[in-house]
Amino acid sequence: MASPSSSSSSERLLKKESLGWMEWLRGWFNVIYEMLFQRIMASHLQNPMPLPPINDITCIITGSTSGIGLEIARQLAESGAHVVMAVRNPKAADELIRKWRDEGSGMGLPLNIEVMELDLLSLESVVRFAKAWNARSGPLHVLINNAGIFSIGEPQRFSKDGYEEHMQVNHLAPALLSILLLPSLIRGSPSRIINVNSIMHYVGFVDTEDMNVVSGKRKYTSLVGYSSSKLAQVMFSSVLHKRLPAEAGISVVCVSPGIVHTNVARDLPKIVQAAYHLIPYFIFTAQEGSRSALFAASDPQVPEYCEMLKGDEWPVCAFISQDCRPTNPSEEAHNVETSYKVWEKTLEMIGLDGDAVERLIEGEEIKCRYGG
Ligand SMILES: NC(=O)c1ccc[n+]([C@@H]2O[C@H](COP(=O)([O-])OP(=O)(O)OC[C@H]3O[C@@H](n4cnc5c(N)ncnc54)[C@H](OP(=O)(O)O)[C@@H]3O)[C@@H](O)[C@H]2O)c1
Repeated sequence: MASPSSSSSSERLLKKESLGWMEWLRGWFNVIYEMLFQRIMASHLQNPMPLPPINDITCIITGSTSGIGLEIARQLAESGAHVVMAVRNPKAADELIRKWRDEGSGMGLPLNIEVMELDLLSLESVVRFAKAWNARSGPLHVLINNAGIFSIGEPQRFSKDGYEEHMQVNHLAPALLSILLLPSLIRGSPSRIINVNSIMHYVGFVDTEDMNVVSGKRKYTSLVGYSSSKLAQVMFSSVLHKRLPAEAGISVVCVSPGIVHTNVARDLPKIVQAAYHLIPYFIFTAQEGSRSALFAASDPQVPEYCEMLKGDEWPVCAFISQDCRPTNPSEEAHNVETSYKVWEKTLEMIGLDGDAVERLIEGEEIKCRYGG
């Protein structure tokens, strides 16, 4: 699919500075619907989700010291996969592995699990991680971009790279990691990039001229930061999905874990946290919340489904709902022109050239402004 670039349509786009009222209302309807009915929608799923044999696969899971990522890492390792916990706090990950081994996790089999340091608030750390991993010259079968933040009610903060923190941790750093790991994913082909996204992308809007939300056109709130970063991830993933040729054998999938009780609520006011505990029926446990990512990582039909979406000239990548069924991302996520702008802006922000993906697929070396 060529990047659309007619100037009249670009001008039209520039005028859109937020979601329309109807889109916004439909977005919130979807969020509330998921919150109220996710348990009914997912009632056909077992918990924990049974996994097919995965002894021969290697998976990198970011943010696996807590919540959904912890569950994904533990269950994949217990099912025999080689798991790499990519975390900003390696000590916490080491302690978790010791605990799982002491508990005899893995049904008697030794857990094949290791820890590597990765801080998504530093693009230099992402480059360092990818270089270290690619230097092994081994295959990578599954990358799960799970780590994320939602600093509810907190003031706007910027990374040392100069980017709004939600945008950096939830979108920019995972985008850089996915691209830099392409050589290993090609070696592991058929392989998958799974992005743990959110139903909140339905209320997100990305202004590619103002990714940091500093221009004053929109008032910054943590909700704006979070939902924009999650929508940017869907849009970027859709273009990546299109750019990867079928021969590369890499599927790109976004998933919604549902509304899940994890540390993501750590910044909520104490009273809201208490309410969170009082409504357990509506809120998934982390184990329940891990099912859509585990499904996307292991179901044998996922690559075929992704290829079918490519063939259809469908504008978005695969999106798997909390009930492990394919679903449609938001209306705004279907905006192809904005998706290409998000793609171009993201590459610029993460310090890569526009042809980085194509060159990596050709087996060439690429340069990143943040190192390497
Ligand atoms: N919980 C929900 O209702 C919900 C709903 C939709 C989507 N999600 C998404 O699910 C994913 C997992 O979140 P969760 O709910 O499991 O939250 P969580 O319990 O807070 O876990 C988030 C993980 O991300 C890691 N992380 C945060 N900042 C990082 C950084 N700069 N570098 C590396 N790792 C970092 C955290 O590391 P530390 O342990 O060191 O803090 C933690 O391991 C996120 O992408 C979130 O947006 C969650």
